[in-house]
Amino acid sequence: MNNESDISRESGPRGLGQLRALIVCLPGTLAAIANEVASVKPAPDRWSAKEELGHLIDSAANNHQRIVRAQLEDNLSLAEYDGERWVELHAYQNHEWIDLIALWRAGNSQLLAAAEAAPQSAWSHTLAVGGSEPMTLGFVLDDYVTHMSHHLRHIGIAVDDILANARPDGASIYPEKAAQTDYPINELMRRRWSPRLFEEGRAVEKEKLLTMLEAARWAPSCFNDQPRYFLVFDGSDARALARARDCLGEGNAWAREAPTLMLSVARDTFERNGKPNRWAQHDSGLATENLLLEAVELGLAAHPMAGYDAERAQSEFGIPGGFTPIAMIAIGYPYRGKLEELDEKRRAKELAPRERKPIGEVAFSGHWSVPYDGSAR
Ligand SMILES: Cc1cc2nc3c(=O)[nH]c(=O)nc-3n(C[C@H](O)[C@H](O)[C@H](O)COP(=O)(O)O)c2cc1C
Repeated sequence: MNNESDISRESGPRGLGQLRALIVCLPGTLAAIANEVASVKPAPDRWSAKEELGHLIDSAANNHQRIVRAQLEDNLSLAEYDGERWVELHAYQNHEWIDLIALWRAGNSQLLAAAEAAPQSAWSHTLAVGGSEPMTLGFVLDDYVTHMSHHLRHIGIAVDDILANARPDGASIYPEKAAQTDYPINELMRRRWSPRLFEEGRAVEKEKLLTMLEAARWAPSCFNDQPRYFLVFDGSDARALARARDCLGEGNAWAREAPTLMLSVARDTFERNGKPNRWAQHDSGLATENLLLEAVELGLAAHPMAGYDAERAQSEFGIPGGFTPIAMIAIGYPYRGKLEELDEKRRAKELAPRERKPIGEVAFSGHWSVPYDGSAR
């Protein structure tokens, strides 16, 4: 009997947390693929992305049945389905990609709701499918996610990133824009990016903001002079937050929806001797990056901005002369809504791929004329 489900007493089979993460992360990632691209068949006898996703919709329909029925009855025997014929029958090539994504999400949300309702005892119920050996329900759910991942890889989805960051409580949201690096880097840096949408109506806990500031505090600085400061607008003073929002430039109107804003400030001179500190803004940036990375670690989203009225901020918030406002930072919980429902422009911005110049364009080997890249050893 197939029994190898990794069932935790509190959170059920491993596949449960993974499925929650996929439902949150995947629609946005899938929506970044254009309708025309999703229709392309790699070979006449191979499925297009539309057909792969269609197959996953069929799989959700069939597995939903298994998950419900096996909860209600032990030692079940159910019929198999013919994946190829189901895909043919639904003519997924004729559907709009965006509609298929919505169907995938709906089918899996339905399946997840049924799985979440399962009492712990139901996961060891057994079922046989199409004359197979009996499998436990826990195994069926885990195997469902494994099968789904296999097909998602076919359409180029970095599904392992999503699964690696899946948490049992479904808190994983961030990995969908993880940097596609040429060389391995640490996960936090890979996952940090600058979103323009936040979870509506969810304030950031003060402890988390303090942890971010703690991270910033431990950044290096020239002579350890620590010429970086932060003004926090966490909503505890609603008027101050409103005034900070009013400082935002038109292009950053989206940031008005962030529950928290911070303003980084650099001190222009060394505290130790009063001389100009030409590294102050550098050190402010180092501290801000620490803060941004800590935000990711805490499951938050944070986005630095130059587009705000620095002069106005300086006078409105009592920033003394000799200190320079640097960047406004929008902070909140990552957006959990449906990207498909956003207007086209906003969705496109949110889904735009993250790009970087290659290392050879920004690093040089001994002389500015010699790129430092992987080619010359
Ligand atoms: C100093 C600074 C100023 C920025 N100003 C803005 C801004 O005003 N508006 C905005 O939407 N993004 C702004 N950004 C975000 C960048 O556009 C973003 O970091 C860059 O495109 C790379 O994308 P990523 O952070 O998602 O990797 C700023 C970033 C920095 C570091």
